[in-house]
Amino acid sequence: MKNDAIKRIAVFTSGGDAPGMNAAIRAVVRTASYYDLHVYGFHRGYEGLIDGDCTRLERKDVANIIHRGGTILKTARSKRFMTPEGRKMAYDSLRAFDVDACIAIGGNGTFTGANIFAQEYEFPIIGIPGTIDNDLFGTDFTLGFDTAVNTAIEAVDKIRDTADSHDRVFFVEVMGRHSGYIALHTGIASGAESVVIPEVETSIEDLVNVLNRSAKRKKLFSLIIVAEGSKLGSAAEIAQKVNGIAPQYDIRVAVIGHLQRGGAPSHFDRMLSSRLGNAAVQGLLEGKSDVMAGIINDDVVYTNLHDAIYKEKPIKDQMVKMAGILAM
Ligand code: F6P
Repeated sequence: MKNDAIKRIAVFTSGGDAPGMNAAIRAVVRTASYYDLHVYGFHRGYEGLIDGDCTRLERKDVANIIHRGGTILKTARSKRFMTPEGRKMAYDSLRAFDVDACIAIGGNGTFTGANIFAQEYEFPIIGIPGTIDNDLFGTDFTLGFDTAVNTAIEAVDKIRDTADSHDRVFFVEVMGRHSGYIALHTGIASGAESVVIPEVETSIEDLVNVLNRSAKRKKLFSLIIVAEGSKLGSAAEIAQKVNGIAPQYDIRVAVIGHLQRGGAPSHFDRMLSSRLGNAAVQGLLEGKSDVMAGIINDDVVYTNLHDAIYKEKPIKDQMVKMAGILAM
């Protein structure tokens, strides 16, 4: 069923960029074009909405971007959109371009703005989960997570070579401001000795025990993956504390940082982005609003933005336990 009230759609990317955002923009534009809808790409997220800074996107404008990292629409975190005045300006500029509905690609902060805006102006809006952190309820995976983890694994594999050669202990910090998904997946897939994530309590003594266990088995190098949001502190702080009680280890720290946010999206992220870009347009045409399009058990699912923002997507205990078992 096609909702004939929707003729023009706005699409924008907001918050931290994530590999796959371009593939999602492409899928939005191509699907909209299939249904004879016009798409306007707004630049720099909510900032572009407020300033009326946009361009019409047609099929050909999204050619040659499916494989590119970053976002052709640019992105930003907007303080102005947090104010009623900013949101009013955004609403006025959407109306000035006769836009009937929005697709917001981003993470938690982006959806918080979208949720308020959808209710304040009864404006149709659907979110696509675009964040490398994978911390949104209502979807098994978010755009960019798979690529970011692949990047982190590649880096850790290289660090492993030098750690092995020098018999060193490396604390490797990966992204994830409030979430340990990147760290846990990187740790398991790179065969690290331990993982420090905000969701699981770990002490400095636990980490020293891990190192001692390795040393006892004559394994003289170790890799410990630390999530940026770890409650024990940054990788550098943890390394310093470990050194304080176990100075016999030759310790180094590596922070992978923004490398994880860039690069060509993986096959998995291109598929996810394509499916969710398509699902977002379909959802608007079916009259859905104030929801996020996600994928659960390989099916497209629409979840209330409020739930996507506020419900937790807990890390599975079983996965944490397995990480420990496999590292022994
Ligand atoms: O939310 C994604 C993320 O990459 C976090 O993991 C990280 O803490 C944050 O963005 C960094 O954002 P920025 O570089 O924009 O400050």
